[in-house]
Order: sequence, then structure tokens, then C-alpha cells
Amino acid sequence: MAVGIFDSGLGGLTVFRAVEKRLPDVPLVYFGDNAHTPYGVRDADDIYDLTCKGTERLFGAGCDLVILACNTASAAALRRMQEAWVPRDKRVLGVFVPLIEALTERRWGDNSPPREVGVKHVALFATPATVSSRAFQRELAFRAIGVDVEAQSCGGVVDAIEEGDEILAEALVRSHVDALKRKMPEPDAAVLGCTHYPLMEDVFQDALGPDVTVFSQASLVAESLADYLDRRPEMVGPGQERAFLTTGDPRKVSDQATRFLRRKVAFEAA
Ligand code: DGL
Repeated sequence: MAVGIFDSGLGGLTVFRAVEKRLPDVPLVYFGDNAHTPYGVRDADDIYDLTCKGTERLFGAGCDLVILACNTASAAALRRMQEAWVPRDKRVLGVFVPLIEALTERRWGDNSPPREVGVKHVALFATPATVSSRAFQRELAFRAIGVDVEAQSCGGVVDAIEEGDEILAEALVRSHVDALKRKMPEPDAAVLGCTHYPLMEDVFQDALGPDVTVFSQASLVAESLADYLDRRPEMVGPGQERAFLTTGDPRKVSDQATRFLRRKVAFEAA
């Protein structure tokens, strides 16, 4: 039994870490498409093709259920995959729905019509591809009415974090928050819609101010997965092996991942 966690690279390790903590007995297979990262600046067809390829590899590793930890893949590819590509006996889930359920105070799988919710002005911070997909606004519209969303595409932040340049990452976050606030001066909630941004959560919170509730995905996704597996235990696939797979150079990726997670991680070639 294994559950797959797909990401464009290293960022999904934030989700991996939260899932591992919440579900310590479920073997996880992590797939990082490091040879093709970042996805955030790619077009939708490209993201779709790469995400299908990586997901296929996870099915091959005995995972019947794959979580797209990558927001960009969830935004630009997931719906198309679910509609046209995912085999009947497999499931692929993304990271937006758990987040939007938390934002709109819905329980898992509550498909009742959209209704008024507590938040009215939501700031979305994400990659350029996620922002241009408008997937967040679409999923939100299925569940809530009267919510104004302002999206800020945060160029440069992923690269700065991956390069370990904390000073640049912080400066970029503050300038993206300023840009957002010029469009929406008083958001009441902010969504960190990218795998890497939880690592900068304190800076986002500080720049946004104490009155803004910041929603960060990793723990919400882990909670929602635990809930899903309670209802659908058969979706924990036949695989038994835990593994970290990468399309990049396993040695280099292992070093980067060890720095990123602050513990030893050994990747192997996908
Ligand atoms: N994993 C991506 C996301 O969550 C960020 C990195 C990338 O652009 O590939 O949107």
C-alpha cells in the first residue's frame, strides 16, 4: 500500500512532510520532476503532459492514489486529467480543493450549492501559470458566492527559495504583497498557493498584517487525505515501498532535498 505524491520538484516536500506526520503508517512514494522544474512558467499543455507522465510513473510504483502537491499542476492539468486521462481504478487529487473547503468552512465532499461565506476579500499568491489558469476562482465559485479574489503572480520567489537566497526571497515576497495591496487594500484572507510559500509564511503574515488570515496548504492537504482514506481505504494502493524518485540528477536532488527538509533524503532515478 502506497500513496503517490507528485511535484514539479522539491516544493512538494512541504506536503510530503505534513502527510508523513499525519499518516505515519502509509508508505509514500514521492516523485519530483526536477529535470523540468519550474512548472510555474510553462504553458498548460506542457504542464499537462509532464504531470501525466509523472503520475503514470507513480501508478507504476503501486500507487492507486496520487496527490498533486504542485499547485501549478493542480491548477493547469488536474481537471483535464480527471476528465480524460485517469484510469477508472485510480484517483488523482489536487491541493486546491482542501484549501478552498477550509476557506469556505465546508466539510470534505460537501457538494451543496454555493453559499455566502465568512471571507469576502481573498488574496491569492501563486506562480504565473496558476494565476493565469484561474482554477482557484473556478473551484471557489462552485462553493461560495460574493467572494472577491485578487491574484498576485509571484515571479522569482520559487527560484530564490531553491537557491537558498533568503534575503532575495523575503524582498520579493514583500514587494508582491505590496503589489497585491495596491489592487486589494484590505484582504481578509490570503492563500499561499504554491508549494514553496509555506517556507516564507512568517514573511507573508508580517507583510500582510495581523488581521489577515493566512491559509497554507500542507497540513490542510494532509488532513483532507486522512479523511479521504478513512472513507476510501481501498485507495491505498498495492505498493509497499517508500521511495523518492526524481527525473533530475539523484545526487544533486538528494543534497538539495536534504537542505530543504533539514534531514537526510535519498532520491533515486525515476
Ligand atoms: N510546485 C510549484 C507550485 O506549487 C512551484 C514550483 C514550480 O513552478 O514548478 O506551484
